[in-house]
Amino acid sequence: MARKIVAGNWKMNLNLNDAKALVQQVSQQNNREDVTVMMFPPALFVADVASEANGIKVGTQNFYFEEKGAFTGELAIDQIRSVGGEISLIGHSERRAIFAESDELLKRKVDAAVDADFDFIFCCGEPLEIREAGNQETYVKAQLEAALFHLPKDAFLKSVIAYEPVWAIGTGKTASSDQAEEMHAAIRSWIVEKYDATTAEKVSILYGGSCNENNARELFSCPNVDGGLIGGASLKADAFCAIIDSF
Ligand code: 13P
Repeated sequence: MARKIVAGNWKMNLNLNDAKALVQQVSQQNNREDVTVMMFPPALFVADVASEANGIKVGTQNFYFEEKGAFTGELAIDQIRSVGGEISLIGHSERRAIFAESDELLKRKVDAAVDADFDFIFCCGEPLEIREAGNQETYVKAQLEAALFHLPKDAFLKSVIAYEPVWAIGTGKTASSDQAEEMHAAIRSWIVEKYDATTAEKVSILYGGSCNENNARELFSCPNVDGGLIGGASLKADAFCAIIDSF
């Protein structure tokens, strides 16, 4: 069985006081031991959030694949670890679209994470025009093949995948549970093809894109949806905890 996960991607929101208050509230309110809860605050706050977190895995929204050196503005895995960060997102659609992160770069990040034995959530998802043309499965499969499916089975088993259709992110327009289930089932079938059925059962596939306390229950009840990567609704403790409790 794949692990159930609810992860909050705070993006470029909140200041230090807000961040500490949010992690404290969620730590207090959440009592679900069967759900792995994660938070991805702005990197600047990872140390503080990690030290306040109780039963929550804290990580970064991004990192660079090099170990150290002249890479102004970037963060290395070892630096993230040194302040309590245990995991990172890789390839969020905002990194791909706004910061022009290529499949080639994402593959290097995946390899760097695996080499460092550092956990990650690999994000994928199609833009609106691809969905409208009906090519979403080809598009998402190509993203996975370009930067994730090259891993050997042992390394691949450590990954978590987040399917986030770009047209559903921050738009209030969530994928229907049928649309989510269809893509998640397709992703799992590609894992069976590439690796095997046991591997496919173990890897968590999260849905992201306008997931909130009102629609999480329906999305999480899909057989191939193992949880959510939550943006806007992860910034309020009550909403985020209600999403965790949707399982
Ligand atoms: P929203 O939940 O705000 O749509 O964001 C989803 C997302 O991008 C999480 O990574």
